[in-house]
Amino acid sequence: MDNYKKIIEDIYLEIRNVDDIGKVPNYIPELSNVSPDNFGINITKINKESFGVGDFDKKFSIQSVSKIFALTLAYKLEGAKIWERVDVEPSGNPFNSLLQLEADKGKPRNPFINAGAIVVSDILVSHLKNPKEDFLNFCRELSNNKNLNYSEKIAQSEKISGFRNIALCNFIKSFGNIKNDVDQVLDFYFHICSLEMSCKELSEIALFLADDNFVTHKGNKVLTMSQAKRMNAILLTCGFYDESGEFAFRVGLPGKSGVGGGIVAIHPDKYCIAVWSPKLNVKGNSFKGMLFLEKFTTRTASSIF
Ligand code: DON
Repeated sequence: MDNYKKIIEDIYLEIRNVDDIGKVPNYIPELSNVSPDNFGINITKINKESFGVGDFDKKFSIQSVSKIFALTLAYKLEGAKIWERVDVEPSGNPFNSLLQLEADKGKPRNPFINAGAIVVSDILVSHLKNPKEDFLNFCRELSNNKNLNYSEKIAQSEKISGFRNIALCNFIKSFGNIKNDVDQVLDFYFHICSLEMSCKELSEIALFLADDNFVTHKGNKVLTMSQAKRMNAILLTCGFYDESGEFAFRVGLPGKSGVGGGIVAIHPDKYCIAVWSPKLNVKGNSFKGMLFLEKFTTRTASSIF
């Protein structure tokens, strides 16, 4: 860890006071109440050694990062059939775009844009008896952490302002690719997005994607090796929406961002790293988070390429 530790501390100090050109989003009213100065990083290696700096222990709204865990559970339950409902192609469009859905007949381009995650939510609603409770329990088992929770405040805030997601869900339903009641699917989707974690927790919960031998504390394997490889492939190509190419180019790791300012990135066989800084660039990804990770994989020579 020593090498990583010093590099993380150095980059943290370098970037902490960099002029941040990003903006805290306000389309979910509750998210704009977060101080833009928060900045934290945590790395967890596959041997579980962990190191954090700054606000690494403070919880924040992980938003779209939770699409990883929703897809993981849906993939486990549905198997390869899931790809009949959602594709695995980069969209090249903003995360909340409706544009391609009409031509694609209601099949979202990938599971990490909002349209795709709403279809994944529908699949989970079909499979789970108590979707919100069961999904939370799945996340708690993944991370061996009983302290994970939804933020009811954030979920409600998104519900009253989620006009685009409401439109997306109804539009997809018109093509028959939403099977359940739209209000139930959206309520579940908003809760998934409202999960709160610290950088430390986020770097721990994603370890199953870095470690081929990962089993939960209950002894369960999460995904097969082939499924985990595929998850990482979709994260690399689609995890940052229309900035996925840029993230692969500058950072070179599979990863996922959220409008709460969090990013988790995975080095298969080595580590998971989570960064949080609430100001977002125009594509909806954390400005400092991307900058930090670019410097980190450069100095540690640990991009996957
Ligand atoms: O549905 C939304 O718009 C948010 N709950 C999540 C979007 C998000 O995090 C996209 N990330 N960059």
